[in-house]
Formats: sequence, structure tokens, C-alpha cells
Amino acid sequence: MNAIERIVDPFTDAATWERGSALWPSNQRQTLTCCRVIDETHDVKSFAFRTDDSLPVRFEPGQFLTVCASVAGQSVERCYTISSPPTRPWLLTITVKRVPGGVMSNWLHDNLKPGGQLAAYGPSGAFTPTGTRAAKRLFLSAGSGVTPLMSMTRASIDLGLDSDIAFVHSARTPADIVFRDELRMLAKLSPRLRVFFVCEGAGDEPDWAGATGRLSLPLLAQWLPDYAEREVYTCGPAGYMSAVRALLREGGHDPERYHQESFDLGADAPQATAPPIVPTSQQTYTVKLSRSARSFTMSAAETVLAAAKKAGVAVPSSCSQGVCGTCKTKLLDGSVDMQHNGGIRDREIVKGFRLLCCSRPTSDLVLEL
Ligand SMILES: Cc1cc2nc3c(=O)[nH]c(=O)nc-3n(C[C@H](O)[C@H](O)[C@H](O)COP(=O)(O)OP(=O)(O)OC[C@H]3O[C@@H](n4cnc5c(N)ncnc54)[C@H](O)[C@@H]3O)c2cc1C
Ligand code: FES
Repeated sequence: MNAIERIVDPFTDAATWERGSALWPSNQRQTLTCCRVIDETHDVKSFAFRTDDSLPVRFEPGQFLTVCASVAGQSVERCYTISSPPTRPWLLTITVKRVPGGVMSNWLHDNLKPGGQLAAYGPSGAFTPTGTRAAKRLFLSAGSGVTPLMSMTRASIDLGLDSDIAFVHSARTPADIVFRDELRMLAKLSPRLRVFFVCEGAGDEPDWAGATGRLSLPLLAQWLPDYAEREVYTCGPAGYMSAVRALLREGGHDPERYHQESFDLGADAPQATAPPIVPTSQQTYTVKLSRSARSFTMSAAETVLAAAKKAGVAVPSSCSQGVCGTCKTKLLDGSVDMQHNGGIRDREIVKGFRLLCCSRPTSDLVLEL
């Protein structure tokens, strides 16, 4: 056990976020009421919500909600990180960037006002500091990717930890920097929180005195000569994250100490631990549902989610890629081949939970549904 492991560290201890708050499972839908809308930048708004029962909600910094809305008669679901920290569990905040042509982000910006309601599935996601001890951290974000790192930073400050955090945020222009004033203010509160901004251009702030261009290894080394010693958490657009990964690799950073979350399910979804094995046999299995006493048969080549939907069984789901955790269901009997993308934790797998959207049966199954 090294010196770091001996010290009690509430930031990385899951019990910190479990105390006193209600569990809201990621496959349970409830209604949120919007209490506040904040204009963060010209195209980013934060929406603060209280839950149906006004109970504090248990989550870990960096986790997200799956938000549901009916837009033009279509049911739409999208994941949004809880940008507020779990140290403020009564008011959950999401921070949404308006995506040109995007269905949900534009609907939220144009329609959701204080008093408005929104359905959502509970907190999910494994992009959190929980369980990973580190003496020094480096948060790298771009655009709306700032949100999980903001929740982590706010939580660390609220816990009074004065942790060594270097927060490097990339934006198009100074006017696009989300949480610019708050990050600077937090850095004044905690001497070991250092905040750096790099903008592609000065935009309409010609007197911008900060760094311009893109994040590069020389710039990172100039700001943080010890970057290779840091536990790195990265979130941003797909292109930004692959550039950051390459840059850190070139700089000799240990990939084992690199954590990332992609907001882009299509282009740069995190890779499953192994490529999915899609059986070609005509093998079929029976799936029994313990709560509804229903059953259906399915091919070994299908995912359980796809087969359940075909059989008319309502299973909550969103991403269909093993990321969001919405389809998490307890497997009471049988076995599946699950190829997830971070939407479920090892401890949940041990408890028997599986993500149905990325699980194919390898025997008959009994599900808690
Ligand atoms: C884990 C996770 C956490 C996230 N957290 C955040 C967060 O904190 N903040 C945030 O802002 N976002 C976050 N996101 C991203 C968010 O979930 C949405 O993907 C984002 O808001 C865009 O959704 P949309 O419905 O507005 O756009 P979509 O309708 O999904 O469209 C996305 C893009 O595709 C284009 N498009 C849509 N339909 C078509 C079509 N038929 N043909 C061609 N192009 C098309 C649109 O023009 C747009 O450019 C997160 C995502 C994940 C997975
Ligand atoms: S639907 Fe998102 S993990 Fe299954």
C-alpha cells in the first residue's frame, strides 16, 4: 500500500456519494421539474431540476441522465451529464450545447422553461473518479465536454479537499468557454486547482490574452511540466479526444492512467473490451420474464433488447450501444455474452445485472422484468 492509498480520500470513495441520498436506478423513469435556466454562453444553457419527490439524488461526479421528450410526436432520448456535483444532490443540473439541426438540444433550448417538466432515467456512467486514487489529476475538455469535469471539480471543492487538479479547457473562442468565470473563481478558492484555457481564435475579444491555437504537447508541457505523472480525464468531441490521446501517447503518458468519455455515440463510442461475437448458428433460446410471467423465444444472433422489443415487451433503452445503462436488467438465470461500452460497472455485473442492448444469449434466460 503506498502513501496515497493509506490516506482516506472521500473523492474516490463511492460511499461519499451514497450517504443520505436516494438511489434513482438508471432504468427507472421519473419526472423532473425545471427550476432554473441559465444562459452559460451564446449556445449553451444549463437547466436545473428537482425530482418528483424532491429527495436528494445519489450519483457520482461525471455521471449522466438519459433525458426523454416528445418532439414533433416522436419520442426522443439523449444522455446529458449532470454538470452539478453530487455534493448538491437536491438540484440536478444539465448543461446543453445547441447542436445545429439537433433534435433534443434545440428542443430543450427553445422549449424548456422554469416550471416545465421532463422525463429522465436515473444516473449512469463509469466516467467518474470513484475507485481511482491519484495525487494529481489533469482534466482535459473541449466544448460541452467540460460538463463531467465540472461536476468533478465542483465536488472536490465542495468537499474542501484542495486536490491537485489542472483543468485545461479548449474552446473555439473566448466567448465559447463554458463556466469561464466560475472556473476562475473556483481556482481562487483552491490554490491547487489551476485552470488553463486555449482558444482556436480570439473571436470578438481581440484583447484575449490567453493561449490561442489548439492544445499541443509543448503548450501542455509549458503549463504542466508534470503532465505525464497525472491521472488524466478527457471529454470532448471525437476529433479532440483522438488528438489528445495521440498527444499524450507521444508525451509518454501511461495509457493506464487515461480515462475518457465520448459524447458522440456514433463516431467515437468507447470500444468494447472485445469485438462482439455474433453467432451465426440458428440456435434459439427461451427468455422468461419473472415479473410479468411472459416469455418469448429468440435467436442467439439477436441482442436480448432487440428480441424483447420484437416480442412487444417494453424495456427502457436509449443508446443501444452499451453506453447509457438505461437497459440494465437483472439476469436471474442463464448466461449472456455482453459486449458493453462502459454503461455498466463490474460491481453491477457481479450482482447479476446485464445491459440487454449488447447482450446475446448463450442459454435460456430468466430476466427480472
Ligand atoms: C454519455 C453522454 C453524455 C453527454 N453529455 C452531454 C452534455 O453534458 N452536454 C451536451 O450538450 N451534450 C451531451 N451529450 C450529447 C447529447 O446526448 C446529444 O448527443 C447532443 O445534445 C445532440 O443531440 P440532438 O438531439 O440535439 O442532436 P441529434 O438530433 O442527435 O443530431 C446530432 C447531429 O446529427 C445531425 N443529424 C441529425 N439527424 C440527421 C440526419 N437524418 N441526417 C444527417 N444528419 C443528421 C444533426 O444535424 C446534428 O449535427 C452527451 C452524450 C453522451 C453519450
Ligand atoms: S440502451 Fe444504453 S446501455 Fe443499453
